[in-house]
Amino acid sequence: MKNDYVSDIHKKDKLILHPYEDLKDRGSYDRKLIVKSDNIYLYDEDGKRYIDGPGGMWCNNIGHGNKEMAEAIKNQVEKMDYCSPFSESNETSAELASVLSELSPGDLNTVFFTTDGSTANETALRFVMYYNNILGKSEKKHIITRDRAYHGSTYLAGSVTGKDREKNSFDFEENFIHHLGSPNPYRRKDDQSVEDFCKEKVTEFENKILEISPDKVAAYIAEPVLASGGCIVPPKNYIKRFWEICKKHDVLYISDEVVTAFGRPGHFFCSQDEFDIIPDIITTAKGITSGYLPLGAVLISNKLINQINKNYSMFYHGFTYSGHPASCAAALKNIEILKRDKILEHVKEITPYFHQKLDRLNEIPIVGDVRGVGLMAGIECVIDKNSKNPLVLDMAIASRIDKESLKLGLIIRPIYHICVLSPALIIAKEQIDDLVDKLYQAITNATKQLEAEGLWSK
Ligand SMILES: Cc1ncc(COP(=O)(O)O)c(C=O)c1O
Repeated sequence: MKNDYVSDIHKKDKLILHPYEDLKDRGSYDRKLIVKSDNIYLYDEDGKRYIDGPGGMWCNNIGHGNKEMAEAIKNQVEKMDYCSPFSESNETSAELASVLSELSPGDLNTVFFTTDGSTANETALRFVMYYNNILGKSEKKHIITRDRAYHGSTYLAGSVTGKDREKNSFDFEENFIHHLGSPNPYRRKDDQSVEDFCKEKVTEFENKILEISPDKVAAYIAEPVLASGGCIVPPKNYIKRFWEICKKHDVLYISDEVVTAFGRPGHFFCSQDEFDIIPDIITTAKGITSGYLPLGAVLISNKLINQINKNYSMFYHGFTYSGHPASCAAALKNIEILKRDKILEHVKEITPYFHQKLDRLNEIPIVGDVRGVGLMAGIECVIDKNSKNPLVLDMAIASRIDKESLKLGLIIRPIYHICVLSPALIIAKEQIDDLVDKLYQAITNATKQLEAEGLWSK
């Protein structure tokens, strides 16, 4: 692209306050401009190709540049661009609701459409409060969540998020939200087995409910795999045990499948298919349209809805773009492609190869843990493999790896000392080889820099 055009765009881009932008650096550097996308790749203003390691933001499931998606969105807009979900409906959002209720587990058949994952979680949390108010349980408002969880950037979704609260200048709801420890088995005590670690977490949860009182605990919200927290896969049985405890104490289980639904671990929804639970509410977004258009959804069980129906009250909650027809058309086409092209089967088939290749990264001295499920992975860097002390270095190690990866044509998602990956689900074996080779090289290069700067030694 022409230089003066590019510098003009960079200048205009500095007018944007980007998500998670550090204001002290604001305007001091040029962000990469992405001008083209195709398959698992993004291309910058110089035509350089990058593997899109995080699949956008955990959302690009069917791959970039899909012409059928473009056609489906265009057709919908040409036929009917928008009508108010407050007063009318449309065939596309109704069709999608029907498909979602078919795909979801149990009796989660009521769909509330939102615009994204944050508004899906905000809706789920507000729904739980509304539900308890209607049932006359106005004291039952407390929500239990976990450190390192990420549930979004609206007020309640941000409050149940467990990342960075201590470094954050925002206000959070603190009166009725409680955070448990993160279930990262890599971070268990040295002499503790994974089973004992799991038991400890389960006990912590039940004790927390008893401490607050079951009459006051409304819900537990959890991602099956903590995505932005560093791709943390809880120990086996942890999820099932938490769900059982929720049932025992009449606490609703909200499963945040914003990342894990629509194929990432190889299922449309993984709560039941991977973890054998049927939550009361599932929230989803991202992969529902593979990121082609914004959309979120809250799936609520019939059991909850039927209890409310008997005690009528208006659901005073909605968004102008709840179930936007173009987004719903994108979701329907996305689901059709996932099914027709057997993409979930591909995920299940290629997952062992992906993890086996990534395991090679364990050879690198600063790599402490390589983990994941399906096509999502986290690589945690440490000062040394024995102490497991996180290699934080002013939060810079993953950013250094990111910089080195970019030079090699790979985008990763750096989270302090953890690199996360969630490539498009259509990724082929040769592309996995290429991704892992580039990441291996990038981590090695970043390690050499640390050594050269005297910040780390073997
Ligand atoms: C598990 C989870 N829940 C919710 C969200 C928030 O979704 P959104 O950014 O679409 O609002 C995210 C975003 O990364 C997420 O990973």
